[in-house]
Amino acid sequence: MNLEEMIEDVLKKGYSIFPDFLNQNEVSSLSFESEQFLQNGAFKQAGIGKGPATQVVSTTRSDLIHWFDPHSLTPTQSILWERLKIIQSAFNESLFMGLWDLEGHYALYPPGTFYRRHRDSFQSDDARTLSIVVYFNQNWKPDDGGQLRIYPIEQDLNHFIDIPPRAGTLVCFLSQTIEHEVRPSLTHRKSFAGWFKKRSST
Ligand code: OGA
Ligand code: MN
Repeated sequence: MNLEEMIEDVLKKGYSIFPDFLNQNEVSSLSFESEQFLQNGAFKQAGIGKGPATQVVSTTRSDLIHWFDPHSLTPTQSILWERLKIIQSAFNESLFMGLWDLEGHYALYPPGTFYRRHRDSFQSDDARTLSIVVYFNQNWKPDDGGQLRIYPIEQDLNHFIDIPPRAGTLVCFLSQTIEHEVRPSLTHRKSFAGWFKKRSST
């Protein structure tokens, strides 16, 4: 998998899977750092919606998150961020997507947590354009659950693919069209989730 193939996948199918996007050292650093933030109490229960309207609805999603601050990234976060900026430029150059900003957070799904089927763009704001997820789960096994389920065909819920959240894998998909969910996790599922944004028109 390379960037050109990734872009072609997104054009054709709306999503792309990039195994081994991160090497083991990068995964270990990110995994370790997210663990540190967790132990320091920096993770918060994730909400639904945007800005002041954000609500915690644990029947919809029950993960914990910790946002990256783009103005003060740790050295570990910078490595991931710079890699993502390369993806951003590639999409802008090939598809004129107008991606101008990136936001993202660590996520932790403790045993028994999930994120029900949803799209990533908000009704009130269509800026989120390309969603990115990167996984840090070393030795992930099918029994660990937490697969990312993608529904590639709009309105067709019988058609889905389950993507194992294996360490180092990156998945990207169109934020406005691709419905997806996180299947119940049976272990401590660790990841990064981010969004490339265009200037919003709503
Ligand atoms: C999200 C999301 C998918 C995943 O955070 O919006 O859908 O596989 N995450 O973690
Ligand atoms: Mn999502």
